[in-house]
Amino acid sequence: MYKVGSLYAGVGGICRGFINAGAEVSWANEVDRHACRTYRLNFGHKLYEEDVWKLNPEELQGIDVLAGGFPCQPFSLAGYRKGFEDDRGNHFFRIMQYARALRPRVLFLENVKNLATHDKGKTYRVIEETIRAEGYAFHAKVLNTKDYGNIPHNRERIYIVAFKTEPGDSGCIADSFSFPDPVPLSRTVADIVDYEARVDGRYYYGKERSMYGQLKKYMRSPETVYQWRRKYVRENKGNVCPALTANMGTGGHNVPLVVTRHGFRKLTPRECFAFQGFPDSFRTPGDMANSHLYKQAGNSVSVPVVERIASRIIQVLEKSSFVSVRESLQAK
Ligand SMILES: C[S@@+](CC[C@H](N)C(=O)[O-])C[C@H]1O[C@@H](n2cnc3c(N)ncnc32)[C@H](O)[C@@H]1O
Repeated sequence: MYKVGSLYAGVGGICRGFINAGAEVSWANEVDRHACRTYRLNFGHKLYEEDVWKLNPEELQGIDVLAGGFPCQPFSLAGYRKGFEDDRGNHFFRIMQYARALRPRVLFLENVKNLATHDKGKTYRVIEETIRAEGYAFHAKVLNTKDYGNIPHNRERIYIVAFKTEPGDSGCIADSFSFPDPVPLSRTVADIVDYEARVDGRYYYGKERSMYGQLKKYMRSPETVYQWRRKYVRENKGNVCPALTANMGTGGHNVPLVVTRHGFRKLTPRECFAFQGFPDSFRTPGDMANSHLYKQAGNSVSVPVVERIASRIIQVLEKSSFVSVRESLQAK
């Protein structure tokens, strides 16, 4: 089994995707203590609850795949647009320090799609050049969850997959990888949102809310996911959920809305996790505030998309003459 180490693991979207594809996660790292609580409920392997800058890569167990769904704010149009000038933008270079220490055969990175165009493409060029300069063959693609994960969630993310090329490699590793093909979207919003259930009262927007009149006027289709935008209702075309965000559920950022037989309500955290492809068996701490859960779901990757890419990665490793970390240890 190929071994994965996951930086910025959140609640484990990437980890779950790799495990579903047949890999094993050796360790993960996450600094947010609330995310760590959720993570630990779902995984038994080592989780370093630590700042990625404080954790020492030299002390970590060897891995085949280094994953990093690194913080996206500096790369997001909605964020600060500071890129590498912003401290958080340097997370990419931190990942590369781990790559140098651990020498994984594969790098798997994920970020918002605007990474590709940030600062007129300079940020992306630096990323690609840096990865290539470390001896990795570079692949990247923007995939939308609704097209590649069979979940009605409009979430475009850039995925970077890089294979280490060693002297003597036949070259097949680098060349035989390709991203998965799109899959037809057969699942609907109704497969995820429970329109019949009466959920906890705090999720409903009743007559006492100032926007109630607008909701009543515009929220007419049960198959549609809506958003309340300060003064108006936004309808999301194509019967998919808009991209869930880390800041939904806080301040002026609202959780998407649906109209059910019991009234207008926001999505529950569980539904948000389902829109990211987490299974029903995914567990969250019973006493955790919803603001944390919404943030965790919004921060996450879409599990089935990662799973499909991870399966491709594993196929390539299996085809190559590559020896996994475990096999090389056994041989010693
Ligand atoms: C976009 S989310 C990653 C989602 C995740 N990769 C997944 O598989 O679902 C970024 C994560 O990085 C974490 N993070 C931010 N700064 C960090 C740091 N200095 N050290 C470790 N983790 C950090 C955040 O708490 C957040 O959970």
